[in-house]
Amino acid sequence: MQNRLLNLSLRFVLPLALVLGLFAYAVIPFVDDLTVRWSVRDLDVRSQSLANALQEPLGEYLQAQEERRVLQLFDRAVQDERLYALGFCDPSGRLQYHTANYPATLGCRSGSGGSGGKNQSLVHLGRGPVHVAESPVEHNGAYLGRLILVHDMGFIERRSADTRNYVIALFVLLAVVISLITVFVAHLSWRGWVSSVKRMLRGQSGQHTATPTPPEVQPIESDLRTLLNELNMERRSRDDATHMWSPEKLRALLHEQLAGDEVLVVSNREPYMHVRNRNGIQVQRPASGLVTAVEPVMRACSGTWIAHGSGSADREVVDRNDRVPVPPEKPSYTLRRVWLSKEEEQGYYYGFANEGLWPLCHIAHVRPVFRSSDWAQYEAVNQRFADAVIKEARTDDPVVLVQDYHFALLPRMVREVLPKATIITFWHIPWPNPESFGICPWREEILEGLLGSTILGFHTQFHCKNFLETVDRYLEARIEHEANTISYGGKLSQVEDYPISIAWPDGTEKWPSVAECRASVREEHGMPPDHLLAIGVDRLDYTKGIIERFQAVERMLEMHPNMVGRFTMIQIAAPTRSSLDEYQNFEARVRALVQRINSRFGSSNYQPIILKAEHHGSDQVNRYFRAAEACVVTSLHDGMNLVAKEFVAARDDDRGVLILSQFTGAARELHEALIVNPYHVEQSAEMLYRAVTMPEAEQCERMRSMRTLVKDFNIYRWAGRMLLDASRLRQRERIMSKIRSHSRTSLRRVV
Ligand code: G6P
Repeated sequence: MQNRLLNLSLRFVLPLALVLGLFAYAVIPFVDDLTVRWSVRDLDVRSQSLANALQEPLGEYLQAQEERRVLQLFDRAVQDERLYALGFCDPSGRLQYHTANYPATLGCRSGSGGSGGKNQSLVHLGRGPVHVAESPVEHNGAYLGRLILVHDMGFIERRSADTRNYVIALFVLLAVVISLITVFVAHLSWRGWVSSVKRMLRGQSGQHTATPTPPEVQPIESDLRTLLNELNMERRSRDDATHMWSPEKLRALLHEQLAGDEVLVVSNREPYMHVRNRNGIQVQRPASGLVTAVEPVMRACSGTWIAHGSGSADREVVDRNDRVPVPPEKPSYTLRRVWLSKEEEQGYYYGFANEGLWPLCHIAHVRPVFRSSDWAQYEAVNQRFADAVIKEARTDDPVVLVQDYHFALLPRMVREVLPKATIITFWHIPWPNPESFGICPWREEILEGLLGSTILGFHTQFHCKNFLETVDRYLEARIEHEANTISYGGKLSQVEDYPISIAWPDGTEKWPSVAECRASVREEHGMPPDHLLAIGVDRLDYTKGIIERFQAVERMLEMHPNMVGRFTMIQIAAPTRSSLDEYQNFEARVRALVQRINSRFGSSNYQPIILKAEHHGSDQVNRYFRAAEACVVTSLHDGMNLVAKEFVAARDDDRGVLILSQFTGAARELHEALIVNPYHVEQSAEMLYRAVTMPEAEQCERMRSMRTLVKDFNIYRWAGRMLLDASRLRQRERIMSKIRSHSRTSLRRVV
């Protein structure tokens, strides 16, 4: 405060005082001059009236030559303190009568000449200036001489000095008053500014608070916010730059920033399934983008992954706490399995999650189905998983990574029991617009559940925006669009985009070479070595655009008949959610289409489409990626699509072309792919043709650029950015709670 006042004085009050001082300096001589002139005019008038008053008696005494009476008259007249002396000069210019103190040097001044003139002047004598006025004296029409009135000017100097002092005092007073008003006004507006700016920095806008932003702050409010966001972005990108994201870095970050706190992951799909078959128990990696992404993170961070134990031999390998160390070949974290009954799985997983939320969030023109019984199971299973999280947590503030649409209610459930937990929820699928989401009968409950999260992540900014707008539409929450935060029920959630990715492969030198892969795949399918291949790898899901892809193949063969017999599309399609009608129908349609196209263009030794509707391990998939000319991703709607990134990572020969649907999150990052609208059959067909005939130099250029991006923007960056943000929020939360408890203590003391 003191500094601010000092600053204000230096910047404003001192210059003001200087200006006023200069002004006073210029004005004082003028005031002096004016005072003298007024006083002289005053004396002129006085002299004239005095001369008039003396005229009559003086004329009489002079004519009667009564010298004594003349002198008495003079002496009486000079009783006036300002009249200094009087003299009378006869017509010949001789000083005939005068008072005792009449200045000798003055003698008989004759300024008027002639009998009728009057004259006034200032005369400097040794004692200072005096005012001298002359007035003719007449009696009965005869001119008798001149009366000389000498006034003392000393009082004028005194008056001048007084006026000067008054003027200086006035200016000083003025300066003090203006300064005080300025300091006061500046102080008030400073306080207003400071509190508005503080509010802004805290991420609250005037719109949402009781105190509106003062008008003078409003013009810069959005600039300040933008600046703040830019600073945040800059800090985030600096974090990105300083962290070349790798498992080691992620581990270090966890220990440094999150004080080595434990990490718990919750997802429906488990990373390893134990399945019993003819050869005994085997371990399977499920076809799931979520598993592909999160598993390397868990390897790096250790901790516990809680998931539905859905493998046929899962129960056989767990300990009595339903835990099993994974990965089986080199355990580094714990998989904690939760068992679901058939009814629970039916209602929560097949029903609410996959017949309700999945089609609700994907624009694939499949209608969502919502049933109360499914919702009840969804709630119950979320509670069961939340209980498992609470049980597994060794501290009261664990870091919980909640995965996907199966657990929209869980964040809030965990928050209620572990209020200090850092809950990061990642929604792996798109988030629809508010109208579409509004179809869900339990939309408010789902939003409230998700807002138990500290951080809520989506793949793209577009999905974040949709989410913020949905909350805005259906809940009474305070939303900061610039800061991407939602405050609901006294809890703050950050909504951010974290584009998911894959772990950049290592040990690639052990992979079979591209030439080997090309040769072996072609040989296996009875194809000549130069046969052109495109590969598709998806779950057999209606969102993946598999039908549109095959239609594009058919159209390409129509448009480019030279491709018939030279080109094949191999489609790996892992069966998924097969007990649902929608998926069974979809599989039947896919199979029928393949059959139709194959019978139209195929022959005894040639099939334009090879459908492999079974689960493939990652090594097998990698071999196909490396063998193909192109990889085709034609999802109708996809949060990210990691197949696209896996294909890029597989091509260490810098060859191969990626065809990528514009409706995937990946299309926002992989600009060098051939981007297609899967609904446009001809466009997709042309892109397919262009891909399999693309010159090597162009393939190389495109592939190199995509590889650099996927390598840098890897899964450790995805997790690292979320954990960094979480640690910042966590620190903020700790500080805020300290401040809160401190202010409560102070308040109690006051009371
Ligand atoms: C998508 C979802 C994941 C899910 C995966 C496989 O990628 O976002 O949560 O695990 O599909 O589906 P499934 O139902 O077989 O787990």
